[in-house]
Amino acid sequence: MAEISKEDILLTLRSIQYPGYKEDIVTFGIVNDVKFQGNRMTVNLKYNTQDAELKASVKKQIQELLNSKYPDHRVMVMEGFPTLEMGAAPPKQNDPWAGRKPIPGVKSVLAVASGKGGVGKSTVSTNLAIALAKEGLKVGLMDSDIYGPSIQIMMGIGQKPGVNEDRKLEPIEKFGIKMMSMGFILDKDTPVIWRGPMVNKAVEQFLRDVDWGELDVMIVDLPPGTGDVQLSLVQKTPLTGAVIVTTPQEVALVDVRRGFQMFRKLNIHVFGVVENMSYYSNPTSGEPVYIFGKGGGPKAAQELQVPFLGEIPIEQEIAEAGDSGIPIVAKNPESAATRAFQEAAKRIIAEGLLERVAK
Ligand SMILES: Nc1ncnc2c1ncn2[C@@H]1O[C@H](COP(=O)(O)OP(=O)(O)OP(=O)(O)O)[C@@H](O)[C@H]1O
Ligand SMILES: [Mg+2]
Repeated sequence: MAEISKEDILLTLRSIQYPGYKEDIVTFGIVNDVKFQGNRMTVNLKYNTQDAELKASVKKQIQELLNSKYPDHRVMVMEGFPTLEMGAAPPKQNDPWAGRKPIPGVKSVLAVASGKGGVGKSTVSTNLAIALAKEGLKVGLMDSDIYGPSIQIMMGIGQKPGVNEDRKLEPIEKFGIKMMSMGFILDKDTPVIWRGPMVNKAVEQFLRDVDWGELDVMIVDLPPGTGDVQLSLVQKTPLTGAVIVTTPQEVALVDVRRGFQMFRKLNIHVFGVVENMSYYSNPTSGEPVYIFGKGGGPKAAQELQVPFLGEIPIEQEIAEAGDSGIPIVAKNPESAATRAFQEAAKRIIAEGLLERVAK
């Protein structure tokens, strides 16, 4: 009988789909190692989920498939088993770039996401971008929100990008940020039902067809929610990690959890939770007033075991700054909101924004 190789097994396992996703379990990155000892074959799995039902289902499928294909072998499927030397290095399971091609010149890509709409994702994206630039990073900003070009408005961008002699799109530069928007390729008359499919096709190409130059970090403002469009965008963008934006209401926790699960399932690191519209300052005393209750964001972060990146106050000036095309961090360096954004930027850097980059 011809000797079975690890590659044979991996090829066989490619016929098993990761539950709930298009990808097979090998592509998804959960097969950590395969080893042989006599007629014993051990498949070692490494998950980024705690979903016991999912694990049991995958294990059963592997077991059945390998048992039937290799009846002479005793097949063991294990999780968290220490990897034995197989000659080749085991695949890097937690590498968020695995299977996603990096964008040339771009060191790290950070998604700003939320479980639901209207929580201030675009406000956070623009201000965080400027705050990161103030920390000395070269920053790009990509608006992949297909339902409205809010970043163009918030950054005060009226023109469309040009094309350079290499036929690459030139990002529009403002406040030291290189900006590009999915809105540029979508006509305002494009029906909403076409937007999802169009973007799914275009996003990867689009990211690479832009002359980003050298960037330390690119911020990607995702469309709100965790539906197919978001999922597909996340899968097609070579993300280093994500920041989840929420609001203090108790009900928001469910949405944060859903957002978090989406990244977890895709093996994408979550840098932490930002709570927006946390409090407003009493106009006479200046004291913070927590209208929706205090501590929702930190509680969510704690539950998900990710850092809490800070609370952004609700300030009329933030909304006005957004409407006027000059984000608050650029407009008013002294405001409490600016300080909060700056602090969040520092924490994301401290959490390894630049170290998590593919080598
Ligand atoms: N901290 C804040 N204080 C005051 N207004 C805010 C604050 N954050 C956001 N806003 C305002 O709330 C509205 C929604 O914010 P934003 O567009 O950033 O949310 P979003 O999550 O990106 O929304 P969408 O889901 O539609 O993409 C905007 O008008 C914005 O100016
Ligand atoms: Mg938005």
